[in-house]
Amino acid sequence: AASIGAIIASSAVQAKQLTIGFSQIGAESEWRTANTNDVKEAAKAHNVNLKFSDAQQKQENQIKAIRTFIAQKVDLIGLVPIVATGWDNILREAKRAKIPVLIVDRDLTVSDPSLYVAKIGTDSYAEGQKVYKWIDDYVKANNVKPRNGGDKLNIVILEGTVGASATTGRGNGFNDALKADPDGAKKFNILASQTGDFTRQKGQEVMESFLKSNRNDIDILFAMNDDMALGAVQAIEAAGLKPSKDIIIVSVDGVKGIFQAMIDGKTNATVECNPLQGELFFQTAEKVLKGESVPKSVFVEEGVYTADKAAEVFPSRKY
Ligand code: AHR
Repeated sequence: AASIGAIIASSAVQAKQLTIGFSQIGAESEWRTANTNDVKEAAKAHNVNLKFSDAQQKQENQIKAIRTFIAQKVDLIGLVPIVATGWDNILREAKRAKIPVLIVDRDLTVSDPSLYVAKIGTDSYAEGQKVYKWIDDYVKANNVKPRNGGDKLNIVILEGTVGASATTGRGNGFNDALKADPDGAKKFNILASQTGDFTRQKGQEVMESFLKSNRNDIDILFAMNDDMALGAVQAIEAAGLKPSKDIIIVSVDGVKGIFQAMIDGKTNATVECNPLQGELFFQTAEKVLKGESVPKSVFVEEGVYTADKAAEVFPSRKY
């Protein structure tokens, strides 16, 4: 049975409109825009007074925003950590002020797990593993041979923001799957791997530099998000190659832009990273503020989508 304290806390939460501070990373990708829109819509649906802050890709701006939320005495703080480390001090300040913090989308590493209540997000490690599996299945099914006549397929990787859990998780998941495959090292060679910071512009620039040094050697591109893949498509076409045919392209996210690119025959597959986390965030926030217990970590659902099904699936995509 619920304690009297919990019942009183619960009716107090129902009685007053909640004020929630949300520190978002920025607007680096189509995915991020979808994530922001979803959080804002879910805030309206939950009748929450949302204080939204866009950190423009800077951790220091996120720290400032959290400090402001604490001064404003918000009921709860949502944080999308741009990088995994460097949060201990500011989260300690929130804890001292008795303001619960929920971590959204990306993961973080803190010395004391009680510095946040729970994490709602995506499983980057599993995403990286799915990318490897998709590549391996695809090259087997299509009997793909190295373009340069060598004995291994050359992979290039466009990494995300340095230090972001989405980057390390996807990288570790991919590398572990490659190592776990007894024939992995015989089949594949990682030719180059560099950050494109999760943006279309940088994805294009870094792919241009990969192509400058290795135009005839690259067989596969693993882009850690769709935006970088879309930038890379431009670089590949500018180099006189056919994206998805000369260079097989798999990315992560599943935004509408990549579905259109798959329909147009320019990329091959996307491993979903679901940005629709707003509803779960506010549901969890309400439970926390009512004094109910919540799981420490919850992942949203994610699939894998390929070019052959893109046109069929496209109309049902929500982001
Ligand atoms: O943290 C999720 C990642 O961040 C998405 O893959 C990417 O598009 C975004 O910028």
